[in-house]
Amino acid sequence: MSTATPHCHASTVEQDGLVYQTGLGNQFESECIPGALPRGRNNPRMVPFGLYTEQLSGTAFTAPRAENRRVWLYRIQPSVTIGAAESLPQEPQFAGGCDPRACEAAIDPLRWHPYPVDGAAGVEYDFVSGLKLQCHAGDPAMREGLAIYLYSFGTNMKDLQTHFVDHDGELLIMPQQGSLDVLTELGRLIVHPTELVVIPRGVVFQVNHFEGESKGPIPGTSPTATARGYMLEVYKGGFALPELGPIGSNGLANARDFLHPVAWCVAQSDYEKPCCIVAKMQSQLYAKSSTHSPYNVVAWHGNYSPYKYNLERFCAVNSVTYDHLDPSIYTVLSCQSEHVGTALADVVLFPPRVLATDANTLRPPWFHRNVMSEYMGLLYGSYDAKVSSGTDGAGGFVPGGSSLHNAMVPHGPDAATYVRAVADPCDAPVLLNRGLAFMFETYLPLRVNPQALRDEAWRDVDYTACWQDLTAADFTGWDWVNGTVGTTREEDDR
Ligand SMILES: [Fe+2]
Repeated sequence: MSTATPHCHASTVEQDGLVYQTGLGNQFESECIPGALPRGRNNPRMVPFGLYTEQLSGTAFTAPRAENRRVWLYRIQPSVTIGAAESLPQEPQFAGGCDPRACEAAIDPLRWHPYPVDGAAGVEYDFVSGLKLQCHAGDPAMREGLAIYLYSFGTNMKDLQTHFVDHDGELLIMPQQGSLDVLTELGRLIVHPTELVVIPRGVVFQVNHFEGESKGPIPGTSPTATARGYMLEVYKGGFALPELGPIGSNGLANARDFLHPVAWCVAQSDYEKPCCIVAKMQSQLYAKSSTHSPYNVVAWHGNYSPYKYNLERFCAVNSVTYDHLDPSIYTVLSCQSEHVGTALADVVLFPPRVLATDANTLRPPWFHRNVMSEYMGLLYGSYDAKVSSGTDGAGGFVPGGSSLHNAMVPHGPDAATYVRAVADPCDAPVLLNRGLAFMFETYLPLRVNPQALRDEAWRDVDYTACWQDLTAADFTGWDWVNGTVGTTREEDDR
């Protein structure tokens, strides 16, 4: 019998000087004071270290076990000690600066440049005041729908002593420029460009510039630079991994690559500073004053926690013979509607990958119309369906920009991409590695902030010109259509 000591790897990893717990959907537990987490029961009469017990439920108590999400918090003061809510004393009263009910239907293909932050020079924005609502559907009061925002900020929330909590939905944040230092009730996460972070409904958090080394393809943004990115909010439920079906038990986003924080508590000198918690309820913002920091959870256990995921860990799957699979094959996370297989919101990635299809497969995406609405963003580089994109300053679909093809709105590769792809002999597999694009896809038609439709410094008003060179000039069948030649069909190779 071997006497060697077995090696055990705890399910934690360390990044940027922080420890994370790995997995998705599992039960986590963490304490930043040894012995603070009660054992054997959730709600003892005498809580270690004089802590208070508080349960945060993300689903109904009676939700099926596989969907049930809750966390037990052991904290210095319970959340009820935070003051009553008051309406914000100044604009904007609505998250993202726009009343979602004012958004408008949009039937044209739409594309936007990065939001022109410089146009607001002299105004200091933090993460919350720097949100810009772009697209919206549904109603948070009915727990149905979603909202898509851009964010940009130069000021840390910690410098303003503000925090944010969303009663309306779960938030998914994708930094495009600038690494984020995200403080939450359950711990701290550093989130770099090419990573995403999910903040569950009801969790208080704060977003600051990361003062360490900013990583990702956008080099070296300093702590004072503008940070910017995208944010998706879902009013129903939360995000989960998609089913894998015949793919099997591995692939796409693997559960072990999701990182959850460990318990983290501010020092006493910071704890006793008055602060403001900005709360969002039914799209409106309120201010709650507090005599103390909300980051006072000394221990917690459960499965309702913020988490982050590195998109570069995505294991892409697609055809190695001919044609493309539908883009759902690139789904990272999904928030399902009540229709089986139909998403309120899919988060879809177009990662660097090998295109290994045969010589008679058009490698860019096909032209299509989709019952789903497709919002796209670009984290870096260029997107393979648009040659007019990139970092050459020529406009088009550029990093930080976005596009929307609403339900049934035609779209596809631009004319130059199509012509180039038809001419490509495609005689060998090729590594497609020009950028990182993503898509938020929803079964709801999206309505658009009126400013996003009319602000010509923001909207790319010439977008549809990219398809106008797809003319009928190459069609060789007019004689057949016009009946001026015989009607015998030639054999083909099907
Ligand atoms: Fe599409």
